[in-house]
Amino acid sequence: MRPDETRAGALVLFGITGDLARKMLLPALYRLTADGRFDLPIIGVAKTDMGLDGLREFARTACGGVSDAAFDKLAGNLSLVAGDYRDPATFARLREETEGKGFLVHYLAVPPALFSAVAEGLAGEGLNRDARLVVEKPFGHDLASARELNGELLKFFDEDHLRRVDHFLGKEPVEDLMVFRFANTLLEPIWNRSHIRSVQITMAEDFDVRDRGGFYDANGTVRDVVQNHLLQLLAILAMDPPPSTDARAQLDEKWRVLRAVQAIDPADVVRGQYAGYLATDGVRPDSTTETYVALRAYIDNWRWAGVPWCIRSGKGLPVTDLEVVAELRSPPVTMFGNGGAPDAPNLIRFRLQPDAGVTFDLLAKEPGKQHTRPVPVSVDFTKVLGPMEAAYERVLSDAVSGDPRRFARFDLVEESWRIVQPVLDLTERPLPYEKGSWGPGPAAEIPPGGWHEISTTFD
Ligand code: BG6
Repeated sequence: MRPDETRAGALVLFGITGDLARKMLLPALYRLTADGRFDLPIIGVAKTDMGLDGLREFARTACGGVSDAAFDKLAGNLSLVAGDYRDPATFARLREETEGKGFLVHYLAVPPALFSAVAEGLAGEGLNRDARLVVEKPFGHDLASARELNGELLKFFDEDHLRRVDHFLGKEPVEDLMVFRFANTLLEPIWNRSHIRSVQITMAEDFDVRDRGGFYDANGTVRDVVQNHLLQLLAILAMDPPPSTDARAQLDEKWRVLRAVQAIDPADVVRGQYAGYLATDGVRPDSTTETYVALRAYIDNWRWAGVPWCIRSGKGLPVTDLEVVAELRSPPVTMFGNGGAPDAPNLIRFRLQPDAGVTFDLLAKEPGKQHTRPVPVSVDFTKVLGPMEAAYERVLSDAVSGDPRRFARFDLVEESWRIVQPVLDLTERPLPYEKGSWGPGPAAEIPPGGWHEISTTFD
């Protein structure tokens, strides 16, 4: 069956007074409204006594205190159903409020523990018919719990009417990877084990877990960003070209490549925890949750066999940055060298955050000398192409349009949990590292030859 792509007539936003709605969803809805790309009824659901006027003011503050025609339009589209997510009366009121509004998108910006209760409440009023359910991450805690949660949701919504958000898939620079690979022919001939020595994916954050101690401690870096965001990136980078342009073909290729990724060998993992983490509110005093991880993944297929895909991510690192570096194999014979040392390898860098673009690190002759020096050849996409759309604008437009390609299909979620499970099973205390460092020392040995320095910015 093809994923249902019926365009929504209204958006039902569970958790409209919560953190995610305030920080991401309402501002994104405002920008979409201002761009003329969103003009639908938004029915907020929340346990709140703020009333509709209060909700409008809440939304105004969330959107930066704006007061313009776009905000008036957004505010005019808002309505509120206040009530408990476990109370059938809430859903009865929601049915009245959504009567005649056409196909519904139910967006669950609520804790995952409430997902099945909400799905059941919706079904109790028939609101699962002519409707799609969109849920935020995390989707499960491991493979078994993800399957259990999925089983609960499938009682009320089939896979084609379910969308699991991974906001990284809404990032334009992430989609640029796909465009770079499949709209240009430049890369394809070398994008394989014959030419690529290793691929390094770095997602660094220079801040700590902030006020999210409780959430973070129950999850850790692997669950928070590797199982979802970074394995999605790996899939986009490593997949074969889809045989057609339809969404399902793309999702199938991502699944095929994830299927070929070996479960991570614990010998290929270094976990870290920054000094001071244990004193964070919400963190268990003896916690062994990692705030840093570096690992090597291997893909057992003809394109990638034997090439290490190295992933590192952590909180409290020196910079906030997301970059992919593919290292090319060196020429078989060193003709020039660098004063006795071998030439530096060619690198292809995809920058995704804070700015987007691509850099080729090529070698040129050092003037007046007989040796080489790496020279970067860069394109800053933002400079050349203009500003990019924010991730949640795309997530919300896709939720409304039904385009499934930027959501996590369940078979991909399952493969991702399988891949990281051996890391989740590790119980040893993570190695300590200082905030502002690049993580524990042994992490340097994860990629062959060490991590390439990331290129912090184009300027
Ligand atoms: C979230 C994680 O999914 O992604 C956070 O829970 C992380 O810990 C965030 O900081 C990063 O997303 P972005 O879009 O800010 O790079």
